[in-house]
Amino acid sequence: MSVAIILVVVLTSLIPIYADIHDAGKICDELGRRSWSSRPHSVSISEFGAVGDGKTLNTLAFQNAVFYLMSFADKGGAQLYVPPGKWLTGSFSLTSHLTLFLENGAVIVASQDPSHWEIVDPLPSYGRGIDLPGKRYMSLINGYKLHDVVVTGDNGTIDGQGLVWWDRFTSHSLKYSRPNLIEFISSENVAVSNLTFLNAPAYTIHSIYSSHVYISKILAHSTPESPYTIGIVPDSSDNVCIQNSTINTGYDAISLKSGWDEYGIAYARATANVHIRNIYLQSASGSSISFGSEMSGGISDVVVDNAVIRNSLTGIAFRTTRGRGGYIKEINISNIYMSRIGTAIVANGSFGTHPDDKYDENALPLVSHIRLNNISGVHIGVAGKLFGIKESPFSSLALSNVSLSMNSGSNVTWQCSYVYGSSVSVSPEPCPELNRDDNAYGRAAV
Ligand SMILES: *[C@@H]1O[C@H](CO)[C@@H](O)[C@H](O)[C@H]1NC(C)=O
Ligand SMILES: *[C@@H]1O[C@H](CO)[C@@H](O)[C@H](O)[C@H]1NC(C)=O
Ligand SMILES: *[C@@H]1O[C@H](CO)[C@@H](O)[C@H](O)[C@H]1NC(C)=O
Ligand SMILES: *[C@@H]1O[C@H](CO)[C@@H](O)[C@H](O)[C@H]1NC(C)=O
Ligand SMILES: *[C@@H]1O[C@H](CO)[C@@H](O)[C@H](O)[C@H]1NC(C)=O
Ligand SMILES: *[C@@H]1O[C@H](CO)[C@@H](O)[C@H](O)[C@H]1NC(C)=O
Ligand SMILES: *[C@@H]1O[C@H](CO)[C@@H](O)[C@H](O)[C@H]1NC(C)=O
Ligand SMILES: *[C@@H]1O[C@H](CO)[C@@H](O)[C@H](O)[C@H]1NC(C)=O
Repeated sequence: MSVAIILVVVLTSLIPIYADIHDAGKICDELGRRSWSSRPHSVSISEFGAVGDGKTLNTLAFQNAVFYLMSFADKGGAQLYVPPGKWLTGSFSLTSHLTLFLENGAVIVASQDPSHWEIVDPLPSYGRGIDLPGKRYMSLINGYKLHDVVVTGDNGTIDGQGLVWWDRFTSHSLKYSRPNLIEFISSENVAVSNLTFLNAPAYTIHSIYSSHVYISKILAHSTPESPYTIGIVPDSSDNVCIQNSTINTGYDAISLKSGWDEYGIAYARATANVHIRNIYLQSASGSSISFGSEMSGGISDVVVDNAVIRNSLTGIAFRTTRGRGGYIKEINISNIYMSRIGTAIVANGSFGTHPDDKYDENALPLVSHIRLNNISGVHIGVAGKLFGIKESPFSSLALSNVSLSMNSGSNVTWQCSYVYGSSVSVSPEPCPELNRDDNAYGRAAV
């Protein structure tokens, strides 16, 4: 007993314990108030033999610098400073109590040679790589089981040079699933801010099994043609803030996920308490804000406030399919302006593929309590395509103050099936399914 008490005292004095934040709409303010940066010690990557000429491979310098800075963990942590220059590197890992700081004009450039990227096991909640069955390339910058980590700068750049990866993806010559630019796995209290990200091979920022993740003031850009590139992916993570950022990608700009079919159901870790605000998004062939389609651990308690969405195939999408299990619920989206969008709002209950043939067709997902308020749009092709699942209709979908101005010649406004909810001040006039007491329909059918 006394040993246990001593242990608890020791642990709590080493690790800052933050209470969970229960109001999703306050997460950005809460996380923003934390002191993320100042470290008592700083070293420059050039002290570790790195050369910023865009040609010298600096992977070992980054690895050695991080290894050296581990010894400062119990001394308030340390900063790894990256001066102006082009710093070519393969994948490397961070450590706890570290700030990686990219000076204005500093560019971390990802190697295009796959042999410079480590190969790692698939994530347990996915059971395989996303692009291909089996293993995957490790991300360029990794955090595994870390806490108190900051990746920031004076608008330095991290360039994934994704073109070679997109070509390998398109020509089916990938050996393993593509790497991401930054990935935090099972980490806590991590911040990414004040940086520009270019041309991620797949995702720009992936946080998985993590909590208290603060992403602020970033620009993420991958060319519109890049296949299935996604900006920020909160995945089986909670207490996440994404704010004051601009994201332009080939596929989705922000996608919330939580695992894939039987693997996600077994891992059972939800994405919850996510706050997204003040963002500018574009997604050429996907959706600017998407939920799923991998959502088997559940997605709930998400607040999106104040977004501008332009030039996207889809504005906001809820995606799932039979076999996923899980849920998407308690989602509040408000104050959105859209322009030049193919379909403004999509809910699709037969979206996406399965990791393998072991999934359970009867694992039906639940989609309910989604509120969309104060949405306006111009140059919209289709207002909404809302298609639920017959055996598990989408319910309590509440639209209020939605005003979408359609492209001239657009003859389809809303299409709905197996979806129920309410609408107040919605134009164009929504489908009749959105004027029914959904509890009577949705619940009875589930
Ligand atoms: C972010 O950048 C701005 C201006 O470039 C600077 O004032 C601010 O201190 C930076 N924040 C961090 C955490 O470095
Ligand atoms: C950061 O740099 C990028 C490109 O280097 C530029 O487009 C962007 O405007 C800069 N952002 C800020 C806040 O200075
Ligand atoms: C984020 O943007 C809002 C609105 O422009 C601004 O009031 C706020 O200070 C910004 N926050 C940060 C951390 O830059
Ligand atoms: C969403 O809005 C409803 C109604 O205003 C509120 O009761 C609920 O707590 C909100 N959910 C979240 C996650 O903020
Ligand atoms: C509605 O959303 C727009 C942004 O699209 C915002 O400017 C406006 O203030 C919002 N209205 C209310 C009442 O929040
Ligand atoms: C749902 O998504 C699937 C897969 O992308 C697509 O084939 C189907 O057309 C979509 N359904 C609707 C109604 O848009
Ligand atoms: C309704 O939407 C319009 C257009 O975005 C906005 O100007 C107005 O403030 C909104 N009203 C409410 C009550 O949200
Ligand atoms: C809508 O217009 C397209 C051509 O622009 C036509 O092929 C289609 O049949 C029309 N749909 C309806 C429901 O009228």
